[in-house]
Amino acid sequence: MCGICGYIGVNGAATKSVIEALHDLEHRGYDSAGLSRVCEGKVETYKISIEEKPDFTASDLADTIPDFHKPCKMALGHNRWRTFGGINKINTHPHYDNDRLFYLVHNGNVENLKDVEKEIGIWKRYSETDTEAIVNLIAKYYKQGSSFSEAVKRTINFIDGANVIVVFKADEPEYFISANKGGPIILAKGKDFSLLVSDPAPLEKFNITSKAPLESGNIAVVDASGWKVESSRNDNESKKRKKKNSKNNYKHFMLKEIMEQAETFANAFRGRLIHEAGTAKLGGLESLSAVKNVSGMNFSREIRRINRFHFVACGTAYNAGLYAKLLLNRFGIQAEVHIANEFCYSHPVFDPRDAFILISQSGETADTIEVMNEIKIKGNVYLGILNVPDSRIWRETDAGIGIRAGTERGVASTKAFTSQLACIVLLAVFLARQRNMTIDTGQKILFELEKLPTKIEESLKSTRKISAIARKYLEYDNFYFLGRYFNLITAMEGSLKFKEISYKHSEAYPLGEMKHGPLALIDQNFPSFVIIPDDSVFNKSLVNVYEIKGREGKVIALTNKSKEKELKKQVDDLIIFPETLDFLSPILSVVPLQLLAYYTSIAKGINPDKPRNLAKTVTVS
Ligand code: G6P
Repeated sequence: MCGICGYIGVNGAATKSVIEALHDLEHRGYDSAGLSRVCEGKVETYKISIEEKPDFTASDLADTIPDFHKPCKMALGHNRWRTFGGINKINTHPHYDNDRLFYLVHNGNVENLKDVEKEIGIWKRYSETDTEAIVNLIAKYYKQGSSFSEAVKRTINFIDGANVIVVFKADEPEYFISANKGGPIILAKGKDFSLLVSDPAPLEKFNITSKAPLESGNIAVVDASGWKVESSRNDNESKKRKKKNSKNNYKHFMLKEIMEQAETFANAFRGRLIHEAGTAKLGGLESLSAVKNVSGMNFSREIRRINRFHFVACGTAYNAGLYAKLLLNRFGIQAEVHIANEFCYSHPVFDPRDAFILISQSGETADTIEVMNEIKIKGNVYLGILNVPDSRIWRETDAGIGIRAGTERGVASTKAFTSQLACIVLLAVFLARQRNMTIDTGQKILFELEKLPTKIEESLKSTRKISAIARKYLEYDNFYFLGRYFNLITAMEGSLKFKEISYKHSEAYPLGEMKHGPLALIDQNFPSFVIIPDDSVFNKSLVNVYEIKGREGKVIALTNKSKEKELKKQVDDLIIFPETLDFLSPILSVVPLQLLAYYTSIAKGINPDKPRNLAKTVTVS
């Protein structure tokens, strides 16, 4: 949560650069945004919040800055996703201490705020944020005689929780300091400037010559020529193109990313199919090399002896994990799936020979990182199915599979989901071919996988129809999303997308479970989206459709062309998606539901790229 950036350069382009970076960090927080810059030795701070301008962008923040092009060497910027305190300009970062000597931006939560406030002693608050306490603690340590960097180290060590801070001192604007205790930070350098960002998204806009993550436990002193990294744990010093992320012609990132899926899906398997052997080549897993030992066995050679695979994830990635479990089970491989934030409390049972697979688009989700840290202690192998190279999970997992979906900016994940499913199919085929799957079956799956990008394109052609359905059902407030077996996953992901960007109540249920309770809610005001393709459970599902229709429930069925005639008279509306193997069907059936969520959001006048209360990368647990 929260996007932070800092720029220092002899070229004087700090203001413009920070505004550009904030544009690309909007997905990390959009409650408010702020910038502090130092020009000719004077600090100026500008802020904007949705309270005064709903749906503001970084350009609106830029508009509040008089003399925008005045040469300024340094600036810090922040996009806020609120935790402590309401949405207003006062709570917007950067924050400063009582003497206005230090200016600071922050990502994280101070979990021992009361202790921090006590440690500061007497001070005057102007905001409700934990950030203001951090900057005042730095000031207190500085006044006590610590150097600026010592004061930052003492502060980051005093505060509890996952936190990243960036701070400058008004009377020494030749550098700023960043401290990382459990969050994402990337340092980057160009010819005459240094840049710090909490997410790689803005980097493409700058001419970067080198970059490095600032690891948790370190602080960096950053000036125009680069940075010096030190450990914050003790005082010993230790060493350590310009393609824009634009929306192209789309109004929203979410729609752009939905429409990109044929291409991103194909990217996920390109170069990874070995047709002659009916298996997949997963270079990331090969890189496990000979070093990792699982109960005395060499993992890379003995991956087939892994007892069971545990998928761990949150949100949409968790739905991909559910798919992974079903698919591995389908191929006779033991698999479990865990919601990351439940994992540490719920006493999961596993064997030392079990492997964990963390699925995460961002690779920075705090809940998933917590599980990773736990698994490290247990000593099991842990792998990743990840999108963002150099993200925390990417760097720390033993090995993994990159989904290659490219930057995803929509808060509601779409293209990452279908790419995650693509990689899960590759993984499942790879593992199953090591076990009981025949070459023939492996080849058939790979063959079909290659046809899916064209079929996704076909699904994407239904925008007009789906937009009409979104408008038709706009008056209803409650919806079911129902499916069986593999398409229960589509129902879950469809329902998640729908609620997060349309703010309508939706629940996903296994279709056959309706009669055990949920059917009680069905009446003419409670429509159901039912995913009912032409597969082995079609007839069973049809009975459930009758049950809903028999209680005056409205049914919008998602099915294949071959069942169109049969269903037409039974249901209120039909959405057709292309046929494929039953276990690949969610890859195609989810696309119309992503579009449905998008168009419902648009019809309600909501900006789907900025759903209320949510952030794309959740770096607090
Ligand atoms: C947030 C996002 C979701 C995402 C989830 C997991 O809740 O809003 O879209 O699925 O985090 O994120 P990850 O980056 O770990 O896949």
